[in-house]
Amino acid sequence: MTHLVLAPMEGLVDWRVRQLLSATGGFDHCVTEFIRVSQNLFPAHVFYRYCPELMTGGKTASGQPVLVQLMGHDPQLMAENAVVAAQLGAPGIDINFGCPSKTVNRHEAGASLLKCPDNLFHIIRAVRRAVPADIPVSAKIRLGYADKELFLDNARAVEAGGAQHITVHARTKMEGYKPPAHWEYLARIREEISITMTANGEIWTVEDFIRCRDISGCSSFMLGRGAIATPDLARKIKDRTGGPAWKTWQWPDILQLMVTYLDLMVDTDNDEHKAGRIKQWMALLRRGYAEADDFFALIRRITDANMLRQILSDAAQHPPKQIAAE
Ligand SMILES: Cc1cc2nc3c(=O)[nH]c(=O)nc-3n(C[C@H](O)[C@H](O)[C@H](O)COP(=O)(O)O)c2cc1C
Repeated sequence: MTHLVLAPMEGLVDWRVRQLLSATGGFDHCVTEFIRVSQNLFPAHVFYRYCPELMTGGKTASGQPVLVQLMGHDPQLMAENAVVAAQLGAPGIDINFGCPSKTVNRHEAGASLLKCPDNLFHIIRAVRRAVPADIPVSAKIRLGYADKELFLDNARAVEAGGAQHITVHARTKMEGYKPPAHWEYLARIREEISITMTANGEIWTVEDFIRCRDISGCSSFMLGRGAIATPDLARKIKDRTGGPAWKTWQWPDILQLMVTYLDLMVDTDNDEHKAGRIKQWMALLRRGYAEADDFFALIRRITDANMLRQILSDAAQHPPKQIAAE
């Protein structure tokens, strides 16, 4: 059975996006944006901010578990924060060893830790020992920092540290988000370790998924930007792999999804922020829908959330060309 995970994406995938995308029934679990652990033991409200689903049993509104992701370099502090997340009801703790951000890497966290597999081992071991045995601990890594020399050593370190699961974004930190993703390395990791593994990187279409599955041999996949560009991608993959049939979303369905997204932003009055989020999503939709180009141009300068909602909702009910011409 194919297992699909909605990728953690800082500034892009918050609880609202998790709710909207997991409601299709395509995803089996989600992971929060990273919580940066550098000096503090965070109070509960910080975890609730990143993961409001902790208030509903650690699950999305449609019932998919949401793992809490931590990123940091200090094993003890990571462990202490993981304990708090577990006490608050996190169904799992995921540790980020893949973030390429310069600020983060200056302070030795995220992908820079991949330069030395011992870093991974010590952090995972500390977290694994600290949180209750029934809470799974997982790690998300890349194939390396500057090169792929340590890709197997890093994967072995994750397993030796006691993680139950590993997700591998099939690129190095230096490769950033540039295609291709090197799925062939995932097959080699699978031969080396016995914990379960999720393949990640550059799955934009059902065809990409099939190629990734064939090359990596994995049965679990994490969808990142592809799930934003084509919001029903996970559900289409489930359909193709024997799940219930799915009627592909058309452009008006996507516009309606944007309206619902705006409506979920009830906790902020900041119009610019709301409009910014819609534009950010719309920019990625250009990859999945021909109509998104014109629509993006149409809304680019709009900062009034009510006006934006009106335009989205009108366009959802009329052919996009009419709206663009008005
Ligand atoms: C805007 C953005 C934010 C991201 N934030 C995180 C994060 O918080 N934690 C993490 O582990 N990965 C993060 N990632 C990496 C994604 O989870 C994923 O590994 C990457 O995008 C590759 O998958 P894709 O090619 O399907 O997009 C981020 C990626 C993007 C584009």
